[in-house]
Amino acid sequence: MAWQGRVVAVTGAARGIGRALAGAAASRGARVVVLDRDAGGAAEAAAALGGTAMTLDVADGEAVAAAIAVIEAEVGPIALYCSNAGILERDPDPALAASADPGSWMRSFSVNVMGHVHAARTLVPLWRARGGGAFLGTVSAAGLLGQIGSAPYGATKQAALAFLDHLAIAHAEDGIRVAALCPQGVDTAMLRDAGAAARDGVLSAEAVAEAAFAGLEAGRFLILPHPEVAEYARRRAVDHDRWIAGMARLRRSLL
Ligand SMILES: NC(=O)c1ccc[n+]([C@@H]2O[C@H](COP(=O)([O-])OP(=O)(O)OC[C@H]3O[C@@H](n4cnc5c(N)ncnc54)[C@H](O)[C@@H]3O)[C@@H](O)[C@H]2O)c1
Repeated sequence: MAWQGRVVAVTGAARGIGRALAGAAASRGARVVVLDRDAGGAAEAAAALGGTAMTLDVADGEAVAAAIAVIEAEVGPIALYCSNAGILERDPDPALAASADPGSWMRSFSVNVMGHVHAARTLVPLWRARGGGAFLGTVSAAGLLGQIGSAPYGATKQAALAFLDHLAIAHAEDGIRVAALCPQGVDTAMLRDAGAAARDGVLSAEAVAEAAFAGLEAGRFLILPHPEVAEYARRRAVDHDRWIAGMARLRRSLL
């Protein structure tokens, strides 16, 4: 896949994995659009990468549609949309798996699921009309395995993976490529706030971004920067009862 001169838009790109994805795109010669709700961070990242900054809250469907329209009109046709922005809110009482309040569930759903849905609602018809485009959703290993310590994160990441799967199945013949980036621990501000459950085999954001581009270039749907996640997902699928018992032991050891 040639990126030179193509438009790559990345959400949540002021820092962390999003910024590394934007950097990986810029280093391949793409024209990068840095989108983030943190206006100052987006401007700083875009200046460093030679891209364009836009302030956007991905939970706001009208704002997402408007941002995509502005990019298409002023920067150019979006070749790759990296729907990366996400939030992790921990269960407030670690001993109670249902302690997150409805507000936390709504915020998590609005960003971690609807962020992808809002973008796809605008991009899929555009891409169908012109014969192609690529959508990379940053999910998480939590989308395959759940997340000890955050019910809203585990559930919304599993929903996000289901949505991307649905898109990939429906639109392959329209030339639309869909990929789900599912890392385990990545060394970012989110991880530093997340607690012990996410600290297994931490990678740099840059390594994850390189894995994402390698996966895109290889045409993969599921991109696993931590390859061991494939084996964990297999074990979960093969014997879910055994999986639950093992995860319960892990959870106890982390409390
Ligand atoms: N760090 C990890 O260990 C890890 C592992 C797996 C998956 N992920 C996923 O990777 C993605 C990026 O995470 P990160 O670790 O870089 O986090 P981060 O918190 O370091 O950065 C997230 C960025 O997204 C922005 N953002 C948050 N909500 C937004 C919104 N509603 N609209 C626009 N921008 C918003 C923030 O301002 C921030 O710049 C998330 O989807 C996260 O769930 C992270």
